[in-house]
This record gives sequence, C-alpha cells and structure tokens, in this order.
Amino acid sequence: MHIPEEKISEILNTSDIVEIISESVILKNSGRNFFGLCPFHSEKTPSFSVNPGKQIFHCFGCSAGGNVISYVMKYHGITFPEAAKMLAQRYNIVIETKDISPAKREQLNLKENLFRLNKKVMEVYSSQLCTSAQGEAARNYLKNRGTTDDIIQEFGLGFSPDAWECVVNVLKKQKVLRKVAIQSGLVMERKQSKGFYDRFRNRIMFPIFDINMQVAGFGGRVMDDSMPKYMNSPETPVYNKSRILYGLHASKQYCRQLGFVYIVEGYFDFLSLYQHGIKNAVATSGTALTSDHVRLLKGYASKMVLVFDSDAAGIHAAKRSIKTFMQEGVDIRVLVLPEGNDPDSFVVKYGADAFSEKASKAKTVMQFLLQVSIDTHGLSVEGRMKILDEMKEHLMLIHDGALRSLYVKELSETLNIDEKAVLEKVREQVVNQVAKKTFLPGSEKDDKNEKQLESDRREEQVISMMLNYPEIIKEVEKTDTLDYFYSEKLKRIAKKIIMVDSPKDAFVTKVMASMKKDEDQQLIASLAMNDFLCEKEDIHETALSIINRIIRVRTKQENTLTSKIISAEKGCNSELMALLKQKQDQIRQLHDR
Ligand code: UTP
Ligand code: MN
Repeated sequence: MHIPEEKISEILNTSDIVEIISESVILKNSGRNFFGLCPFHSEKTPSFSVNPGKQIFHCFGCSAGGNVISYVMKYHGITFPEAAKMLAQRYNIVIETKDISPAKREQLNLKENLFRLNKKVMEVYSSQLCTSAQGEAARNYLKNRGTTDDIIQEFGLGFSPDAWECVVNVLKKQKVLRKVAIQSGLVMERKQSKGFYDRFRNRIMFPIFDINMQVAGFGGRVMDDSMPKYMNSPETPVYNKSRILYGLHASKQYCRQLGFVYIVEGYFDFLSLYQHGIKNAVATSGTALTSDHVRLLKGYASKMVLVFDSDAAGIHAAKRSIKTFMQEGVDIRVLVLPEGNDPDSFVVKYGADAFSEKASKAKTVMQFLLQVSIDTHGLSVEGRMKILDEMKEHLMLIHDGALRSLYVKELSETLNIDEKAVLEKVREQVVNQVAKKTFLPGSEKDDKNEKQLESDRREEQVISMMLNYPEIIKEVEKTDTLDYFYSEKLKRIAKKIIMVDSPKDAFVTKVMASMKKDEDQQLIASLAMNDFLCEKEDIHETALSIINRIIRVRTKQENTLTSKIISAEKGCNSELMALLKQKQDQIRQLHDR
C-alpha cells in the first residue's frame, strides 16, 4: 500500500506521541521528557523516554527509537502502512488505499473479514442465548452461576446451539469465502464428505476481544460434566494467543487507575470479579503466560497479583509463571485462595471485600515458593536441605541485593539454618552462574561501547547538534565537515539531514519522517535525545571546536600515512608500502561499519 508523503506528514503532525505511547506504557513526566518502562526489553528502572517537543521516543537501554509511526509498528508488530493507517483512523485522517500490493491487500482483507465474521457470529450466539428456545438451558446455567444480564451484555456472552451447522449457515448466508471460513477456526472441514461443521456446539460462548475491542476468537464451556470442559478458538491471523488476555479490553482503564492487576485463570473468574466490582483483572484462559503478556500488562499496571487455585495444577502453573515475571522485573505477589476455591467461587461466596482483604495479604513470590517447598519436602533435616537447594535457585534470580538478604534472613529463620550457611549456598550458586556466563556470549554490548571509536563519537556529536540546533548545519556545510567523516553511515545520515528543509521547531520530526530505515530512525532518535549541558550561547563555539577536531584529526592521520607511503615508494620499500596501504584500508574499513 502506498501512502502519499503528505498523508504521512499529516499523520505525524496530527498525532501526539505521548498520547499514543501512554496507551501502552505508563509515562511519568520529568523535565522535557517523559519516562517509562521500555515495552521492547525487560527492565526495572525506566530508560524509555519520549520527547513531546520532537515527537520521538528513545530507549537508553535497548536503543529502540523513532517516531510515532515506528512506535506503533514495533509495538503491534505491524508494517509501516498498517501503522500509518491505524493512526490515521484514530485521528480521522482519510487515506486512500488504491496502490496496495495484491498480497498485502489480501492479508488485510482476510483480517478484516475475520473480524467481521467473528462479530457476526458473536451476535448470532448472543441472540441464541437471549431469545432462542434452545437457549433456555444456557440462560438458566448462567443464572444459576449468578451471572447478571449486564455482564452478559457487556462481554457479549452467547450460546452455540446443539447443531452441526449453525455457524456454517451463517457462513453461507454471508457468502464467506472458503479460505476465510477455514482460517476463522469457527468451523471444521468434514472428513467423509465435502463441507464444514461447527466447532462450538452446545456451549456457553465467551467472545475474546483484543485491545481494540475487536472479536479475535471464542472460548466455549459445556453446561454439564462432559469433556472437554472448555474449548477455545485456535490461533488465527487475528487471534495471537501470546498477545491477548481475556478481559483486558474492559479492565485496562481500571488497571491503570489502581496500578495493579489480578491475573486469574478462568473466564468465570474474571467475570465474577468484574461483576463484584473488582475490575482490574485479566484471565489467561488456558494459555501459559508469556513474556509478551507480561510486557503488555506492564503498560497498564506496575504491580501484579497472580491468583491461582490451590490445587496442584494451580500451583504448578504459578511456579511456571513466576520465572517469566521475575525475568521481566515485575513486582509480583501470589494469592493462593483457601482450599477448594477459585476467584469465582470465592467472591460469590464471601464477597469482594473478603477477596480484597485476602489479596492484601498475598504472599511475595519467595514466601510462596518457600511454602510450596515446605509442603513438598517437609521440615525434616533432609527436607530442609532440599528446600534450601530449591530456594537458592530462586534467590539467585533476585538482582536487588538488599531484597535478597531479607529473603535469606527469612529463609534461614524458617529453616532454622544459620544465615551465613544460607548465604554461602546462594553465593555458590551465583558464582557458578557467573562462571557459566563468562563463557557464553551476551556481554557484547559493553565491548561494543568500549570499542566505539573516538571519531564516531565526535561525528555523532556533530549530528546531535545539527538536529538540536539546525543553525549549526550551515557551519557543517561551509567547512565541508562531512568529507572528513570516517563513518560512511554517519556521513550518509548527516547528508540526509542537510537535505531536510523545515522550520526549526519541527526539524527533528521532519528529519525522522525522512528516514525510511528502522536503524536510521533509531540512530536519529538517540542522537536527538542527546541534550547538551552547555549554555545556549556556547553551542556555536562547541560545535565549531568539534568540527575542527574532526577535520584536524583526519587530515593529520591521512598526512602521516600518505607521507609514509610516499617515502616508502621513494625508497622502493615495497613491503612497507603494501603494509601501509593495508593499514590505510583497514582504517577505512574500521570506520565503514
Ligand atoms: P478451570 O478448570 O479452573 O475452570 O480452568 P473454571 O474457570 O474454574 O471453570 P468453571 O468455574 O468450572 O466454569 C480455568 C481456565 O482454563 C481454561 C479455561 O479458559 C478456563 O476458564 N480451560 C480449562 C481450557 O481451556 N480447557 C479446559 O478443558 C479447561
Ligand atoms: Mn471456576
């Protein structure tokens, strides 16, 4: 899809990067910038910054960066035109999409068709529940479970009748293409004959919404003890299970307000809590929590409470998720409800206050793991050693030293083992781990920083200044500074910047828009974020002195080498000559990264 340049400019001028990013990241104002936790890598302290003046973002941690369009692309994992279109829609900007490539058009069409079909099917299921004769059993089922009409309406609950072709008939009536039908996950192909049959039959239906309120898929529950109890849509082009959490479309605002989110397992757990006024929750609904889920949630709440059934499966699930949370550096508590309860049954029986009261006493992860370990191994001498062995692995994962020693203390008290001995065990583990790490790649980033060339740094500084103080550009042009750049990449970027014609206050925005490559945008974002500490009047002077240094160093180095080459030529020292030329090439290559 080709979107005309002026439309792109319109989108960039109209949209507000802070507003857009705020929808997925909690941003705090600090001086000229906003800061938050980067959605693109795991971190505990905010290094993700957004500059409203320049309309750019940059992460000092992982160096992701760009403008509002690149953010939307990266965050939602979509293409440039898709992102532009999404923003355009939001700000009521009309773009015509004639020139789209056929393959892309088809993919977009497919998604649109799937969303439309899902919505239609949701309506059919919903009317089946509310008005059909067959729906009576389902109505009674929900009534018995205490689900109110309001909840049924708000979450679009429905009923799939006990028939093989309810949805199949919808597909026929809507003239849905075969391909769309197959990809929808709503019907299955018959094995013996041609045609399809419904996937969901005789079930209470839960539409699963994505964050934009579009129906991505369904879950369905039987109304008796038959198996499987729940059935869910498969992954489809519009239903990515590792990125969608049940209920988030409705709960996100409450998660934001309260700063924390309950993570529960089931559809009914979520709905019951919501109905009882505990609206800051999401349900994993049968999928394992992924780091994508956690990052998504981090945009809405910094604290999370995992609520699990106290049965073995629940505890196993909790243990599995905890690692994901720890790796993402999230403040997480674990709430295990009393034997035989899940959030739904608990809140129905005891009410919202009792639930909140329990939740306020939710265990820290370490307390939870310790309890599980004690329950498993008991407190005999051998049991305690096993517990210690298990716990040291978890303690390792805590990077905060102070916090870790608190837990070490608690652990030593609980196990009645000398604190020093516990510490020694943990240290052993840490040393093992560090030893392992040094043989593994992964610390390249530091190396790279160290290796970063002096010249690159100066050249980057010049570009930073060009971006922040466009009046410097004429000095750069006057002195032909770019001819003295070692880095071809920086030279190319600087040349592009010079070409940009824009009033000063929108300069970075314009430059950013002129960069097509992702890596160039990232570089621009990081360079534009560089704020100079010197006074405004000194900028000019500082720039001139950096420019001078660039020119001087290069001239000098070239001169030395060239003169050596010349004298080697004179003295007919061909070996030395070759060596020097090689060196000259090496220097060039070094800078051409
Ligand atoms: P539970 O078995 O704990 O069910 O599964 P529940 O939510 O308490 O269900 P009710 O209260 O008996 O109605 C928790 C979640 O795991 C998924 C569903 O999303 C369910 O809500 N699940 C469970 C499945 O996907 N398939 C199953 O067969 C069972
Ligand atoms: Mn339940």
